Amino acid sequence: MENFKVICFVIFVNLGVYCFACENDDTDFQSITEMCNQTHQTSAEKLLYLYDQGILQDENEMDPKCFLRCLFETSFMVSLEDGSYDNCKAVRYFGGMKTDDNSKQDELLKIAEKCGPKTDHADMCERTYRFVKCFITKGNEYLRGEVTVS
Ligand SMILES: *[C@@H]1O[C@H](CO)[C@@H](O)[C@H](O)[C@H]1NC(C)=O
Repeated sequence: MENFKVICFVIFVNLGVYCFACENDDTDFQSITEMCNQTHQTSAEKLLYLYDQGILQDENEMDPKCFLRCLFETSFMVSLEDGSYDNCKAVRYFGGMKTDDNSKQDELLKIAEKCGPKTDHADMCERTYRFVKCFITKGNEYLRGEVTVS
């Protein structure tokens, strides 16, 4: 449980600090994480690795992907039918773990826009995972100064 507390701490510290193109929202990601973890049990280690590296340690494992689908659906981060994302929410959730530099949020928003919509896979869990993989991988490249976005 120790790692889980770390995740939540990071998320909550960053919530509300942002001041970018997006409106504030008070999605309770902690409760949603707990709920989705009941149906698609995923360890905090696996999530931390994914959120850090942008890829699952084992890409054949479906539970973490379906955990993401649940997280996205429950927090209204995605409309699964047309594959469009609430990019503000995605940046708030994932970007907040990466940087608390407000000036970078707008660029991360553009990255999120480029990673969606995702309708390239019939399986909804796989779709959600592909978006997360794209967003975190490209976000990491941007934050490391390897690419410029606009
Ligand atoms: C999911 O639940 C298991 C079992 O209770 C727990 O060990 C794990 O840390 C939880 N995962 C997250 C992300 O909270």
